[in-house]
Amino acid sequence: MYIACNSIVGNREETCYNSHALVRLFVTYFFGAFIVNLVYRILRVLQWMQKLFLRIPLFNELSKDTNTLPSGSDGKYKSNIITGGGERTFMTEQFKALQGFKDILPEEQPYWRMVERVAIEVANLYGYRRLETPILEETALFARTTGEGTDIVEKEMYSFDDRADKEGHRTNLTLRPEGTAGTVRAYLEHGMFQLAQPVKLYYLNEPMFRHEKPQAGRVREHHQFGCEALGDGDPAIDAEMIGLLYDFYAHLGLKHIRVFINSIGDGNCRPQYIEILKDYYRPLLSECCQDCQVRFHKNPLRMLDCKEPQDQAKIAAAPKIGDYLCEPCREHFAAVQRFLNVYEVPYEIDPLIVRGLDYYTRTVFEFTSDIDKLALNGGGRYDGLAEILGGAHTPGIGFGAGIERTIQEMKRQKITPPEEERPLAFVVYFGKTPEYKEAAVRAVAELRHAGIKAEMAYGDRSAKSQMKQANNAGAAYAVLIGEKELDGDFVTIKDLRAEGLGTESKQVEVRREELMGHLKRG
Ligand code: HAM
Repeated sequence: MYIACNSIVGNREETCYNSHALVRLFVTYFFGAFIVNLVYRILRVLQWMQKLFLRIPLFNELSKDTNTLPSGSDGKYKSNIITGGGERTFMTEQFKALQGFKDILPEEQPYWRMVERVAIEVANLYGYRRLETPILEETALFARTTGEGTDIVEKEMYSFDDRADKEGHRTNLTLRPEGTAGTVRAYLEHGMFQLAQPVKLYYLNEPMFRHEKPQAGRVREHHQFGCEALGDGDPAIDAEMIGLLYDFYAHLGLKHIRVFINSIGDGNCRPQYIEILKDYYRPLLSECCQDCQVRFHKNPLRMLDCKEPQDQAKIAAAPKIGDYLCEPCREHFAAVQRFLNVYEVPYEIDPLIVRGLDYYTRTVFEFTSDIDKLALNGGGRYDGLAEILGGAHTPGIGFGAGIERTIQEMKRQKITPPEEERPLAFVVYFGKTPEYKEAAVRAVAELRHAGIKAEMAYGDRSAKSQMKQANNAGAAYAVLIGEKELDGDFVTIKDLRAEGLGTESKQVEVRREELMGHLKRG
């Protein structure tokens, strides 16, 4: 405005004033540009620091999610992936694994393989045979057996309608939340009742899906080792099942395991007990937690399982089912205890173990670690389950042991699984021409075909980098192929384990055809 004024008025004072305005305008412009530039640079630095910090383990530890179950990554790779080319990129949040679902990464696998090996060993020892059932079943199978009023069926199942069939009917399907219903269905469907009874089956590393709130010890996809014995109600089988489970943890090297057992009666004595329990709770109901007020109507036995502090005194004073068992249930439970003594399982009777699934009768049990009260497993007898599915009366008993929780406990007790097998040989080549690489590929292929675990470096790295990789891989020997080796048709074998020996004694030259024999002899 002043500049325009200057051109019209033309007096000196105003010209001076207008030149000040011009200077101010320039200063403002340059200062503004400087600030914008500075902010831009600060943002770039922050962006760079963010990338850098996500690579630092400590920083990743801080950004770990709250779930403490073994996840494979233990949060290390959160939002940070390494592309095939070695370049680091960031993955969008959208494509992260779902909440409560975990990748089981290679470094976690030794724990899983150890649990698997021990489970198979113990299941075989006790005469159980492996069964695998589909991950997807009709929703009705779980709803009828587990119970319409249970948390699993009411709140936790992953259910959806299947695509319509030719007639336009859709079946409602559910991702398996537990293993017993499918096992009993398979037993009936395949006529296993015609075999010698009991039929003893186990399942292992089977994924189970429950839409629970992820927290310490609780995920939405978990895995179980489970055993089921169908077709005989002998109390010695109850003791066998608990004994097997106790051996499973013992063979894993776990200590401080507590075994809690109870009997929740059967269709003969439990209904009367439930009436007695309801009579006790009726006048106290308004003081109970919201969940218990619902349980009172739907599943009163579960009121004994409530964890709310306000209900603990009422639970302690409540009538316990052990005092109301009918004679056959009492005898059964007494026999289970006698046989458990024979198996030398140190059990404790806990009258508050009622289990969260409807199908249980008589013996129920849970194991926990000494350290916390999180159930490592849960199981019990389910003598009426086959009838619910339309089968004949078929007594059954089983357990499901959570693998994630078992591994969590192993880590807590510092039980380390055997290390993964390291390569015996790592082939290193010096020289960038195709002949060297081909000689290396040939050597590694021959070693593998001969059953020797062998590795080589890819990407034409320097000899130093290849040697570093050989050491990092934990290889026992580096098989070196350089110019003199290629010309002379031999290889140099460097003993990577011979720490402290002189270079001479660490390395030997071997004719190409003797490589396998030399490595096998060690
Ligand atoms: P359950 O008590 O619901 O029983 O589950 C068995 C075990 O699976 C639990 O003790 C726990 O170790 C593990 N588990 C359950 N839910 C989760 C979760 N959200 N996250 C991590 N681990 C979990 C059953 O499933 C019965 N079918 C057991 C059975 C077999 N009864 C008779 N035969």
